[in-house]
Amino acid sequence: EAFDVMVVGSCMTDLVSQAPRLPKAGETIHGHKFFIGFGGKGANQCIQAARLGAKTAMVCKVGKDFFGDNYIQNFKDNGVHTGFVGQTFSSATGAASIIVNNAGENAIVIVAGANMLLDSEELQKVLPAISHTKVMVCQLEISPQTSLQALRMAQENRVKTIFNPAPAIPDLDPDFYRVSDVFCCNESEAELLTGSSVANVEEAHQAGQELLKRGCGSVIITLGPQGCVVLKAQESTPRHVPTAAVTAVDTTGAGDSFIGALAFYMAHYPTMPLEEMARRSNQVAGISVQAAGTQTSYPYKKDLPPELF
Ligand code: RIB
Ligand code: NA
Repeated sequence: EAFDVMVVGSCMTDLVSQAPRLPKAGETIHGHKFFIGFGGKGANQCIQAARLGAKTAMVCKVGKDFFGDNYIQNFKDNGVHTGFVGQTFSSATGAASIIVNNAGENAIVIVAGANMLLDSEELQKVLPAISHTKVMVCQLEISPQTSLQALRMAQENRVKTIFNPAPAIPDLDPDFYRVSDVFCCNESEAELLTGSSVANVEEAHQAGQELLKRGCGSVIITLGPQGCVVLKAQESTPRHVPTAAVTAVDTTGAGDSFIGALAFYMAHYPTMPLEEMARRSNQVAGISVQAAGTQTSYPYKKDLPPELF
């Protein structure tokens, strides 16, 4: 079986509270709404790519529990191949406690649980399918060594790679840069990785140059309402790709919507310029911030203007 997009990454059950603001340490505040949703950066990216029309496969591990069973059904409902979704008795399905304020900003604590048990043994079983995949996508909510190995296996099989170093870790293995065709992060991740401030487009260009030097094919730094910057190893000028202003209800998972869309475009339109893919992915992610939740807010192909395809 051949896939457009394969994601080796995380699944989390999102436990979301909406409150006027984020609480301070030691403080209790009243929120106004609570809901449970399907999240986790890896799964979010996979679901967005699937909703745009990509043939997707998810490689992940969930618990042999209620949340894990439900998650597998969610993949099936979205047309994601579940043959590489493992279930374990040893750990619970990953969970994310999320607080969203009135500005649509969030604070998140994840307990990765079963996600951390995905290992090289499982990847070996996926190897035949990797060689029949167009785009591989990885993040950092599973063991970093598993992510790195998946990216290496993809690169060895001439599969395009997107690496999203989220959540960022200060001691990122330098090999991650060399195995990334596209290294895509947000401003705070770029700050942590470069040690310099990324508060505007100019600073994002500089941080992007620094990340590019470490060996990736291209770098994209997403900047929320300011769109993103795109840098390519073969080109000396960084490009700013602006995006239309929208009213944010919930920005949780907007970066995942962007990356899922990017993976779809790389698989379906391999010769499209990267800045055009980024411009379209900005539009997709811009829709996701206008509704609550992560996957619940991700658009389907049928809801989007035909110019995006
Ligand atoms: O990027 C958003 C995601 O981060 C949420 O769905 C939550 O599960 C955390 O992993
Ligand atoms: Na949203």
